[in-house]
Amino acid sequence: MNISAFLADRTTITERALDRLVPSETTLPVAIHKAMRYSLFAGGKRIRPALCFAASEAIGGHCPGIENVAATLEMIHTYSLIHDDLPALDNDDLRRGRPTNHKVFGEAMAILAGDSLLTLAFEVLGKLGNAQLVVELATASGTVGGMIGGQVEDIQGEGKPATAELLDRIHRAKTGALLRASVRMGAIYAGAAGPQLEALSSYGEHVGLAFQIVDDILDVEQSSEALGKTAGKDAAQQKITFPAVYGLEPSRQMAGRELELAHAAVAQFGEKADPLKAIADLIVHRKA
Ligand code: IPE
Ligand code: IPE
Ligand code: MG
Ligand code: MG
Ligand code: MG
Repeated sequence: MNISAFLADRTTITERALDRLVPSETTLPVAIHKAMRYSLFAGGKRIRPALCFAASEAIGGHCPGIENVAATLEMIHTYSLIHDDLPALDNDDLRRGRPTNHKVFGEAMAILAGDSLLTLAFEVLGKLGNAQLVVELATASGTVGGMIGGQVEDIQGEGKPATAELLDRIHRAKTGALLRASVRMGAIYAGAAGPQLEALSSYGEHVGLAFQIVDDILDVEQSSEALGKTAGKDAAQQKITFPAVYGLEPSRQMAGRELELAHAAVAQFGEKADPLKAIADLIVHRKA
């Protein structure tokens, strides 16, 4: 299995779906559709769609329409990035190698572009007629252990003393929950339930935590140019991060441990989990 080819293929499928689902730049009111598309088609890694596809493939079977599910994950993720970058949150100028949404379209349009990607995701998911998928995405994006809950504690934690428990809770919520949901939604769409779904959830939880540990490490080690977003921002804003609490080397080891646990969680799927294992490797060993 060639993971680069897998990612390129699933990215193309996802982006085609996004292009079909998001109103064109000439649809009225044009300003909002331009703003939505600006951030959506700025070249993200598309890790969440890849996890969704890979989980469905671990379960097996043909899954017509799964690209719509994958697209909703990228809509929610992009909305979370647009809002994360707002002056009221992380106040960032650079995202996906471009000026942030509010720098180009203004704060009002950036807030609304985030809102509209969030709303569209649930319109698309609702049309698929599977309530379980709607609940998964809403919970992972929500306030109790979900993305918004994590963002709240991330913002409130700036400059405050960190405990290991708070750090763990922030990272599992702000980033881990949506990654876990990406895996679970792909699996549920493919018909998974019971112990198979449990195993994939466990995989999703481990890669989800590993993802944010590595995001924190890269913020310290990499350049803004390499990341396509402002490096060194976490220390400047006194964020609660793994390197701040444990140091760089222990953080690397913790990400490595999560990677091992992710692999172990999907061992029972044999070769069918090869894409999931390769994506986990990529999440931990990536340089951006
Ligand atoms: C960045 O996510 C924000 C976090 C949740 C840490 P990604 O690293 O997946 O960003 P893109 O989609 O590739 O831009
Ligand atoms: C953001 O975490 C997680 C989100 C929910 C968007 P960060 O604030 O660390 O993400 P980056 O580093 O700006 O991408
Ligand atoms: Mg943030
Ligand atoms: Mg940020
Ligand atoms: Mg970060």
